[in-house]
Amino acid sequence: MKGIILAGGSGQRLHPLTKITNKHLLPVYNKPMIYYPIEKMVQAGIKDILIVSGKGHAGDFLNLLGSGKELGARFTYELQDEAGGIAQALSLAEDFSDNERIAVILGDNIIEDDLSEEIKDFEKGKFDAKIFLKEVEDPERFGVAELDGDKVIGIEEKPKNPKSNYAVVGLYLYTSEVFDVIKNLKPSARGEYEITDVNNHFIEKGKMGAGFIKGYWTDAGTFDSLLRASQLVKENAKD
Ligand code: DAU
Repeated sequence: MKGIILAGGSGQRLHPLTKITNKHLLPVYNKPMIYYPIEKMVQAGIKDILIVSGKGHAGDFLNLLGSGKELGARFTYELQDEAGGIAQALSLAEDFSDNERIAVILGDNIIEDDLSEEIKDFEKGKFDAKIFLKEVEDPERFGVAELDGDKVIGIEEKPKNPKSNYAVVGLYLYTSEVFDVIKNLKPSARGEYEITDVNNHFIEKGKMGAGFIKGYWTDAGTFDSLLRASQLVKENAKD
């Protein structure tokens, strides 16, 4: 299984913090933000990791992360020329993934759970894709799952009237089928290729599994969530 971390995008919601650097290089407590998704993958035994970054600060990612040796990983780098959406960033990973199953983490997501078992199960399992949900107080900021019991029957991206409090976490598992799905996508009203459209495709086909995140989870893409991310990491640091 190969890993992909998506660290493109414009980071507009964090201006002026992101005026001269990339969101994923900002500190979350005592480490650069991008260390957290990398550490999650390495913890789950995924060492071969592609980092997709935007054009502006690609050199800074290289300087910070290098070959990956220090973090116990092997990094490959890819550039997303413009912030055309999460699904577009993921499409750049097709050659790298080489028909293997992939784990994708959004570069601004901080996840507490150890993902080893979930990833092992997915490798053996019958689904072509798997998403993870977490109950939140502000679902309208996220992709939100519509549930029928434990079954996800659809996802709405940033709905005004969310059908549940379950946000879709920025962690996705896919077979190589995902690249064909992305090729047939159309941009959304905000002009982006949406990962939610990709996931709804797998849901409609009955090929999507869903799990729940038990520990803490947050994104770090707004001032408040960036602060919260630092607080969560500090409060839960084991030393
Ligand atoms: O954090 C989870 C949420 O992430 C999900 O619940 C949503 O369904 C999903 O659409 C996404 O929502 P956001 O609005 O928070 O996504 P954002 O634009 O902040 O992008 C999240 C990360 O994805 C970002 O840190 C880097 C990567 N990205 C994003 C875009 C738009 C790229 O690599 N390239 C891009 O063009």
